[in-house]
Order: sequence, then structure tokens, then C-alpha cells
Amino acid sequence: MNTYTNLKTGTADGVRVITINRPDKLNALNRQTVSEIGQAVKEAAGDTEVYGMIITGEGPKAFAAGADIKEFSGLTKEQGMELSRAGQEVFQSIEDCPKPVIAAVNGFALGGGCELAMACHIRIASSNAFFGQPEVNLGIIPGYGGTQRLTRYIGKGKALELMITAERINAQTALQLGLVNYTVPPEMLMPKCMELLQLIRTKSPFAVGGVIRAVNACDGTPNGYKAEYAEFGKCFTAPDIHEGINAFLEKRAPSFR
Ligand code: HXC
Repeated sequence: MNTYTNLKTGTADGVRVITINRPDKLNALNRQTVSEIGQAVKEAAGDTEVYGMIITGEGPKAFAAGADIKEFSGLTKEQGMELSRAGQEVFQSIEDCPKPVIAAVNGFALGGGCELAMACHIRIASSNAFFGQPEVNLGIIPGYGGTQRLTRYIGKGKALELMITAERINAQTALQLGLVNYTVPPEMLMPKCMELLQLIRTKSPFAVGGVIRAVNACDGTPNGYKAEYAEFGKCFTAPDIHEGINAFLEKRAPSFR
């Protein structure tokens, strides 16, 4: 396993845990951290011992309090675009990862931190978590995909409100809006993430990847349906379907590799 400057990584029961490790800066996402997250996800995606990932933040206070504001000073328009584009590429690689990625949101998820959580497939929030897109306080807008993903998750009206007021919401409100899947007491955060991943582990990894790709293709046009039938067809090329059907016929639980 690679070592990283701003991340801690470890594997437990086939789950790669990627922890942003800048607690004294509330895990602010400087360029190096964003790049390392991309590398760590890619590394885990290619590791046959890993079937899922958890992204979280070190310390009790923050998942990530946003992009590192200190890196914004003096940027030109072109440099600003490039910062945003490069981050979007990393966050898209998380959303496109064929293995499930859960955000364990253990505190502030603001700006780029909220955008990082939204790039993950599932979000579980500790009851002390806060979410928000406070960029307009700084004279900027979300740049790591937040304008798109927040709108998809909670709808245009509420997404616009959160982004143009910069208001923070707590975990319970995030749950009501559909921004997070569950909210749990802080001590239950990692156990809940592991419980969900252990359940997913019993399913066909090929089909799990197919669901992720088809769902990601949902853009409100017929493209999503085309992606779905293409992914459905691909299932017939993989060994998992034989195991799944045989297990059903033999009245036993399937055992996918
Ligand atoms: C750099 C940050 C930071 C950030 C916190 N810190 N957030 N450094 N970038 N986003 C640093 C502080 O400077 C401080 O460092 C240390 O972390 C602790 O933070 P405090 O502010 O002292 O903590 P607290 O008073 O508890 O307040 C917590 C907070 C506040 C409410 C989360 O830190 C805050 O408002 N942070 C900024 C949140 C934000 O605006 N995020 C959006 C960023 S823009 P020192 O050295 O002083 O101890 C963005 C755009 C993404 O994310 C798209 C890019 C393309």
C-alpha cells in the first residue's frame, strides 16, 4: 500500500479506509490532498483484496472544512479554472469507481468537503456533522461539482438556497433533505459504514459495478436507459450470473468471488 503525506490509509475486512489527515486545518483540501485522494481511490479500486472504501476525516471536528482557502490567493482566472477542473476530475473518479465508496462524515463537511462527500456513493453522517456550501462568503462558487451534485441530490430550489445563503445545515436536516443516507451517534459512524459494506460484500461485485455505472448515467435523457440495457447485457458475460442463478436454484446463499 502506498503511503501519503496528507492521508492515512488502512484496510480492515476488505474495506480500505482513507482518512484525510490534516486535523489542525480541519482537514482542508489543499491540492496535494485532493491529488492524494484520487491516487488512494485508484489504488484501492485496483486492489483485489479491497471490495469497498470509506472516506473520512481525522479528528472529532471535521470531515473536511473545504478547499484550502490559503491556496486561492492571487490565482488568475485560468489557474482558478484549472484548480476546479483538476478537483472535478478526482471527484468524478470517486463517483465512477466501480467499488462502493462511503463518506463517513464525522464533523464539518463544508465547501469542497461537502462536495467530496457528495462524490461518494453513500453518505453516513455522525449526529454532530454540519454540511454547507459557504463559498459565496468568500466571493467564489462551489467548484468541485457541488452546483451539479447538490442540485441532483436535494433539488434545485433547496440547493440554490443553500448555495446562495451559505447557510449550514445539521445532520438531521441533511437526512430530511436526502443529502445523507443515515445519521448515527459519533461512535456508531464507522460500525454503520462497515455494516453497510459487509452487506454489499455478499452481492455480485460485477452487478454492483453495473448498478453504479447505470445510476451514474441517469441524466434525465434516454441515455440512462441505454446505459442500463448495456450494463444488463454485460452481466451475461460475467461468472457472477451463473453463481447467482445456481445459488437460487440450489436454495443456498450465493458466494461471489
Ligand atoms: C484553510 C482552514 C479551512 C479552510 C479551517 N481552516 N477551514 N484552512 N482552508 N477551508 C483552518 C483555520 O484557518 C485554522 O487554522 C484551523 O483550520 C481551525 O479552524 P478555526 O476556524 O479556528 O475553527 P473554528 O473556529 O472551530 O471554525 C470552524 C469552521 C471555520 C466554521 C469550519 O474554520 C470555517 O469557516 N472554515 C472555512 C469553511 C469554508 O469557507 N469552506 C469553503 C472553502 S472554499 P489556524 O492555522 O488559524 O489554527 C471551497 C471551494 C471548493 O471549499 C472548490 C474549489 C475549486
